[in-house]
Amino acid sequence: MINIALPKGRLGEKAYAIFEEAGYECPAIHEESRKLIFENAEVGVRYFWVKPSDVVIYVERGAADIGIAGKDIILEYSPDIYELLDLGMGKCRMAVAAKKDFCDRRDRTLRVATKFPNIARDYYNKQSREIEIIKLNGSIELAPILDLSDVIVDIVETGKTLYENELEPKQDIVQISARLVSNKVSYKFKNEEIVAICEKIEKVLASKK
Ligand code: PRP
Repeated sequence: MINIALPKGRLGEKAYAIFEEAGYECPAIHEESRKLIFENAEVGVRYFWVKPSDVVIYVERGAADIGIAGKDIILEYSPDIYELLDLGMGKCRMAVAAKKDFCDRRDRTLRVATKFPNIARDYYNKQSREIEIIKLNGSIELAPILDLSDVIVDIVETGKTLYENELEPKQDIVQISARLVSNKVSYKFKNEEIVAICEKIEKVLASKK
């Protein structure tokens, strides 16, 4: 049995559709319910719906053998796992954004609001820029508007949230997409099954190009 952690939400559903096409279906998953675990013993898979940022925790600790995680989460938490495939979905970017009229003064400590303190710290460390991190858990765009921060480091997908809040992207940090990740021990001991899943998923992805 291969245990698979899927991120709850739209990305997880898209990712599941790929697994389904690859032959790892679990029809009960389509039924309206609040269940979090679905299993198809015949094809040897068990799916869990987990909070997107928790996928890497399940995989790192071996509660899941494989999972689907955003590159943002992988970069932020640096889990000790293998990254097997880029699914090419859930594409967005991590960027610095600020009010349109924001003018950076390098002689001042920059106040950075973000859900991704490690990514933000790494980015500014490389520029030897002194910053203060303000860790928030959501609605990051509010911070510069209310002068809680000078800039934000956040996910930009369409740019609509920034635009509608009169902010604009200032610098791109890194491109993000969903990755298939594996627990290191599982990769060794369930290698045949995991490699087979990878190959079938790659075929499905290639057929969509
Ligand atoms: C993310 C991100 C932005 C928004 C970007 O928020 O933090 O707010 O999506 O998308 P856009 O460029 O297409 O407008 P999420 O929906 O994860 O909610 P959050 O505010 O709880 O972080």
